[in-house]
Amino acid sequence: MIKLGVNIDHVATVRQARRTDEPDPVWAAVQAELGGADGITVHLREDRRHIQDHDLERLRGTVAVRLNQELACADEILAIACRIRPDQATLVPEKREEVTTEGGLDVVGNRQRVAEAVRRLAGAGILVSLFIDPSPEQVAASAEVGAQAVELHTGAYAHAWRKVERATPDASDPMQVELGKLSRAFVLARQSGMDCHAGHGITYRNVEPLVKLARWGEFNIGHSIVARSLFVGLAEAVREMKRLMNPVK
Ligand code: PXP
Repeated sequence: MIKLGVNIDHVATVRQARRTDEPDPVWAAVQAELGGADGITVHLREDRRHIQDHDLERLRGTVAVRLNQELACADEILAIACRIRPDQATLVPEKREEVTTEGGLDVVGNRQRVAEAVRRLAGAGILVSLFIDPSPEQVAASAEVGAQAVELHTGAYAHAWRKVERATPDASDPMQVELGKLSRAFVLARQSGMDCHAGHGITYRNVEPLVKLARWGEFNIGHSIVARSLFVGLAEAVREMKRLMNPVK
């Protein structure tokens, strides 16, 4: 069964638009859990544009499933993670100007910095995952710095999927190229002894080829689920995604 981590950052984004106290990400986490979420994911960004420190603290006290904190390799945020001790920490790259996380963490180019962050988090008893592009070099470097899991960036796949939605797939079409990269990276990650997750840009429409591709440990999905929740409610939106991720055979 593929586990679903529901990213609820967008709920905090709506709240921060008015600097008020609603909607509350803690309520969202409860609804996601009721819908069958296996984990709750939040990204405490250095610019605090959505999730705030007090959200993380309250979520740590209330989330009954696994709490996954996304974070940059930044000293201040690492210290917060080590104090709050989420079940899992996912190291991501972070740029102030970006709308959302763009590209994976460059573990190859920042080996020492990432290794130190992994050591700190693992030392606090936190399972460490690295959000990387599906390249063999990044997978190998992730294993070398001691990560227990990698989350493969599915953004390029999601982008390619839109373009070839109705085309007959062949080996040269962009979607098949991206699926090939993800498949090879998955195999390498598992051979290196790491769990393999996927995330970014996964939607109700593009999830099926990914589900069929590999025996993923976990998907982390935010935008599509929160968007649908406006119309069907968050618990139902989570239920629908879980059904697509784990179809009855
Ligand atoms: N995984 C990681 C590491 C992310 O940074 C994000 C975006 O916050 C997601 C998954 C979820 O992406 P999306 O909102 O496109 O589903």
